[in-house]
Amino acid sequence: MSGRIYAAITGMGHYTPARVMTNEDMAQLVDTSDEWISSRTGIRQRRIAAPGEKTSDMGIAAARMAMANAGVTGEDIDAIYFATCSGDMLFPATACFVQQAIGARRAYGFDLSSACAGFLMALEVATGAIESGRIRTALVIGAEKLSAITDWTDRSTCVLFGDGAGAAILRASDRPGVLSTLLGVDGSHADILSLPASGTLHPASERTLREHLQYVHMSGGETFKIAVNTMVNAAREAVARAGLTFDDIQCMIPHQANMRIVEAVAKRLGPGLMERVYLNLDRYGNTSAASIPLAFSEAVSLGKVKSGDKVLMVAFGGGLSWGGAVVEWL
Ligand code: COA
Repeated sequence: MSGRIYAAITGMGHYTPARVMTNEDMAQLVDTSDEWISSRTGIRQRRIAAPGEKTSDMGIAAARMAMANAGVTGEDIDAIYFATCSGDMLFPATACFVQQAIGARRAYGFDLSSACAGFLMALEVATGAIESGRIRTALVIGAEKLSAITDWTDRSTCVLFGDGAGAAILRASDRPGVLSTLLGVDGSHADILSLPASGTLHPASERTLREHLQYVHMSGGETFKIAVNTMVNAAREAVARAGLTFDDIQCMIPHQANMRIVEAVAKRLGPGLMERVYLNLDRYGNTSAASIPLAFSEAVSLGKVKSGDKVLMVAFGGGLSWGGAVVEWL
């Protein structure tokens, strides 16, 4: 044995709010239709958090399921990495509310903002901390209450998003679980997908309210084009870095933004890959940082990911930012 420390995912969890909002419900709010939304995006419904339900509440529920599945308690956790672009507040970090709720007495934690690539960014941070020997157990969460930062008068964006959470427990292992990670950003496209008034550039004012700057703004067509190329490259690189080929991948979990993007990506990656893609975007829409762990956890719960399977995750989002990772489900 080399004595090298590896990181492995040992439990997944997820949570979605009870309220279902269908495309028909959406058509009561803005000028749209089930036909338009489902044919262009594949989305049929999404979940919407209750008014008092916080991003931390959803993250905590997902974390509890992941902890139960991994057989760890709060005392075991050394670090909490919370990926979100819709945290409860700018500070304290949403991770602090999780730490308190799950009794992770020894843990440090922080929020990580990288929009839809956030979970893979957090996975990379957790993997590095474990492989370096600094920590042994990490809780990685992706959770979003996008309904609170969605412009419900803008039909070109509001139909796309939903609320939810996913979580993973990563532990030190003598066998490799995380086989590769790859991350990137390109700030030259920062303007095509953003939430302009979320920081200090545009403090809350009559103007930010009038111009709806406190909501997600997106140039859909441009995002679509860049997304396909970016995800294809990230997926190829992540698989190559793991020393594998696409034939070795049993399950692909892409960021669940748009069915047409996923189909275009899978088609370019190789024949037969689409049959190995796990999708739940028809039921949840785009849940940003929650998207990949929510899908991964569901896939595990449904028995679609089995021991020994290699799982490819790939994401892109605002930044632009992107990520890819291959893990073996031990
Ligand atoms: N219902 C009905 N019509 C709508 C609509 C809606 N919800 N949203 C936009 N439209 C209209 C537009 O106003 C436009 O009308 P016009 O031609 O009269 O101006 C028309 O539909 C076409 O708009 P367009 O933006 O060209 O549509 P599209 O085919 O590109 O599809 C998206 C729009 C948003 C579905 C698509 O661009 C997309 O999925 N982009 C990627 C978005 C994404 O995944 N973002 C998240 C990244 S993490």
